[in-house]
Amino acid sequence: MGVLKNVGALVAIGAVLIAIFPPPDVLSGLSSNHDHGPLEIQAIMTAFCLSPIIGTLLGEREGIDTTGGDFKFEEDGDIENDEYAQASIYAILYAMYKNTPNLISPHGKTYQFTFNTWGFAPSPYPEDDPQRHGKAAYAGLVTQPAALEYKKKLGDTPLEIVEIGCGTAAGANLITREVHPTAHYLALDMQQAAINTCNAIHATEDNPGLTCKVVPNGVGNGGNQAPVKDSSIDFVVISETHIADIEIGDLEKEIFTEIRRILKPNGLFLWGNAIPTRVWEQADVELPKLGFELVNNKNHTEGAVIARDEDKERVDMVMDQLLEPYYIMNAPYFGPRCHKVGERLIANFYRHPGTALYLKMVTGYDSYMHQAWRIKK
Ligand SMILES: C[S@@+](CC[C@H](N)C(=O)[O-])C[C@H]1O[C@@H](n2cnc3c(N)ncnc32)[C@H](O)[C@@H]1O
Repeated sequence: MGVLKNVGALVAIGAVLIAIFPPPDVLSGLSSNHDHGPLEIQAIMTAFCLSPIIGTLLGEREGIDTTGGDFKFEEDGDIENDEYAQASIYAILYAMYKNTPNLISPHGKTYQFTFNTWGFAPSPYPEDDPQRHGKAAYAGLVTQPAALEYKKKLGDTPLEIVEIGCGTAAGANLITREVHPTAHYLALDMQQAAINTCNAIHATEDNPGLTCKVVPNGVGNGGNQAPVKDSSIDFVVISETHIADIEIGDLEKEIFTEIRRILKPNGLFLWGNAIPTRVWEQADVELPKLGFELVNNKNHTEGAVIARDEDKERVDMVMDQLLEPYYIMNAPYFGPRCHKVGERLIANFYRHPGTALYLKMVTGYDSYMHQAWRIKK
């Protein structure tokens, strides 16, 4: 009887929430220009969990394309890009991170999930730092030999840095507080919720070098510019941002052209990511056409796989903790099914052990590279 009462209460709460906030499709219908509040996400999650897409994602019906090979969403989280809009997934993820500000790490540390860069091992940061691999990636990216040489030549003049796809600006925060503390750093993202988090916890009064701004619909999209002058920037940073994860297409070329516009002569484009090895080869052809020359190139794939393995326990905990606040997850039948789908979606995005994106790094189909590209005079 008690169980029935609880189920009835859950369904009633869900129905009221859905009526107040008619929810869009989580995979493709959420706007990056809107910061979804706690009640809105409850409604969105409830509708998502009650919708037929859950059965489809669990492989009970035909309908979800994978990226090919032997991958299956229900086993390894693999899903073709056409099936979702990254902007929509990020809108819900950033709202979920913000709604769960007190995660607990395996070492018992309380922290807010801010790094979407999962990074690599070894990390110079302490083992009990929950986001140590992401920190290693950001610190490594901006201290590549060419970057240190550039900074030395600049002397006391502050570095002017722009980041495209900064997320919550966790990496930018590390750089402005610890790695290059005199830098002026403009962190850009298309997600309003991520920039709100940046302004709340990173770009605070005690960190005057950091500014976070939203670029609606993203830099390069439809010719969108970064809000900076021509030839004014020393470093442009991109870290684990979903560009070039299929090919160097029109959007990537627009972004590279924009990077070229804002970099000073001899300025550096510092790019770190795990993307298909063949796409790095395409970049080797396309970037020189725009006047870039490759000056550093380091393969971190092995360390990235080790980081995922070392981070497994924490990420398992993160997934449970992120999904826990949603009432619908406690509903019999719908809850466990939806938890499984949510967990697979999040895990694949994070290259968690066993997922398609993790396995692609293990086989070398994807490579995690750190590169520095210098713009020729
Ligand atoms: C995987 S997350 C990484 C975020 C951040 N680098 C970090 O490590 O936490 C990718 C981010 O890139 C942003 N993004 C993707 N393309 C973008 C573009 N063209 N302009 C601005 N932001 C973009 C997304 O909104 C998302 O927040």
